[in-house]
Amino acid sequence: MTKSEVIVALDYDTPQQVQNLLDQLSGTIRYFKVGKQLFTQNGPSIVKMLKDQNYKIFLDLKFHDIPNTTAQAVRSALELGVDMVNVHASGGSEMMRRSAEAAKETNPDALLIAVTVLTSMDQNALSELGLSVSPQEQVIRLAKLAQSSGIDGVVASAKESSLIREACGVDFNQVLPGIRPRGADVQDQKRVLSPGEAAAQGAQYLVIGRPITKAESPAASAEAILKEIAEA
Ligand code: C5P
Repeated sequence: MTKSEVIVALDYDTPQQVQNLLDQLSGTIRYFKVGKQLFTQNGPSIVKMLKDQNYKIFLDLKFHDIPNTTAQAVRSALELGVDMVNVHASGGSEMMRRSAEAAKETNPDALLIAVTVLTSMDQNALSELGLSVSPQEQVIRLAKLAQSSGIDGVVASAKESSLIREACGVDFNQVLPGIRPRGADVQDQKRVLSPGEAAAQGAQYLVIGRPITKAESPAASAEAILKEIAEA
């Protein structure tokens, strides 16, 4: 089985903060996640800064709009040279299919990932939207819809990862946040997996933020995590 690849979440405001982390992790981590905070502050220049240093990039902007607009946003994101981009599966099958077509035309090697149900949403939040299903049922429904619409994988929570694996198979990519080394502070994450557990479950990508970015030594933390994955 291919070992999980670690993507470090760059939850920062400035390029200086990003460069400081890159310098500490150079030679250890090659994949980084740029989210709404960093991208909204800095725009495409932050992507260029990472690309110029040959890093791989997951642009986590979770597009959700009408099919044409979403597909064009995916195209624009991939034209920046990112390696992974995502959309909300709740935008529907046509939106995902059009986005997947745009992704394949722009860069067939890039991955288009779907977000199913935000992990911040519980049963009550779904009921408020008029959805009388459990979050877990909705996750599986949207993961299958994403797969049949040509999407390459989903962002999954530790809780649903194995069910998605059963429903969608081992080749459907899983990008897992909520990763905490054993004994680490779980912070605001509710249900977590250790890097070794997530790797043993076959997740292709692990998104890790604070256990590395807030560590006394980010490099030592990253190395310990990579070792745990290699031994899983
Ligand atoms: O610091 P931490 O390891 O919790 O960071 C996890 C990253 O993954 C953050 O950028 C967070 O926004 C993102 N994420 C998450 N849970 C989701 C989706 C994304 O924690 N369900």
